Amino acid sequence: MKAKIALLAGDGIGPEIMEQGVRVLNAIAKKYNHEFTVTEGAIGGAAIDACGNPYPEETHQLCLNSDAVLFGAIGDPKYDNNPDAKVRPEQGLLAMRKALGLYANLRPVKTFPALYSQSPLKEDRLVGVDFMVVRELTGGIYFGRPSEISEDGLQSVDTCLYSKEEIRRVAINAFELAQKSKKKLTMVDKANVLSTSRLWRKTVQEMSLDYPEVSVEYLFVDNAAMQLILRPNQFDVILTENLFGDILTDEASVLPGSIGLQPSASVGEKTAIFEPIHGSYPQAAGKNIANPFGMILSVAMMLDYQFGLKDEAGAIVDIVDEALSAQVGTEDLFPENPLSTSVVGDWVIQKLA
Ligand code: IPM
Ligand code: MN
Repeated sequence: MKAKIALLAGDGIGPEIMEQGVRVLNAIAKKYNHEFTVTEGAIGGAAIDACGNPYPEETHQLCLNSDAVLFGAIGDPKYDNNPDAKVRPEQGLLAMRKALGLYANLRPVKTFPALYSQSPLKEDRLVGVDFMVVRELTGGIYFGRPSEISEDGLQSVDTCLYSKEEIRRVAINAFELAQKSKKKLTMVDKANVLSTSRLWRKTVQEMSLDYPEVSVEYLFVDNAAMQLILRPNQFDVILTENLFGDILTDEASVLPGSIGLQPSASVGEKTAIFEPIHGSYPQAAGKNIANPFGMILSVAMMLDYQFGLKDEAGAIVDIVDEALSAQVGTEDLFPENPLSTSVVGDWVIQKLA
């Protein structure tokens, strides 16, 4: 097949891991006879430095004209401790999600036996952990207005707003994913306190009638945070709103032993984005030590979800499994015997060939 892919490497370790992702993509193209045309675009801190805008119009046009977007990371410490900064790298990511209408963020969480000893949890909790968090991505408190500090600087407000339609469309993704896996959907909310959560619960309850084979359970977010640590293998598909999903997916990311392993997809109205969930890890930038597997698995997710290339995606996932079993990985995974980002990439490419 032929496809156009936009590459938005972004900040921190973004460019280094993107390089490995693209090598894997090229190796797949060669082996399976596909033609992937890649084009780079600017986003985040790098785009602010270049043109003052963290999501330039040119990058938006590139995304619109592509069949998928591979994204690296966003964020630069020089903005983090400056609450007065008017323009921030993260605005680029939020603007891109909104402009592309990417309302569903799919974040799989899976443990690997070869890494059980790296996880902060005991092994018996990690066996059989394989679930998907579906996080709403373009609504809620991230985007509600007003969101501002009062003129006298003494008060501040953020607004959490959800419409039934915003809930319904992302819940469809979650129900369909549950149908294709273990047929269990866990709705996470704070319906004992928040009215938006009550609308979520009501909407999902109504929709559950259309998916009789999916069993739906409801958890308050505080309890869900605890259950993720106590008994993470009870989950199949978790559906939740934007902010809760942000927090719970960082929590869940420690289960496999390193956040550096996890891919994600953001899907919705326009071009979908595939990205590792780990962020820009500025301390490691330029050192060739960042874990490339999150990006490599994001390439696999793109091939599978966007292009329906199951064999190609499966080949990548199998090689990552194999690498972990052979203790091939960066320092976050194997601190006693760490390999560099590019050497891990070499290993994967060689296996693919
Ligand atoms: C994420 C990130 C972003 C978010 C930030 C960088 C705006 O933490 O993708 O989870 O909060 O959504
Ligand atoms: Mn986050």
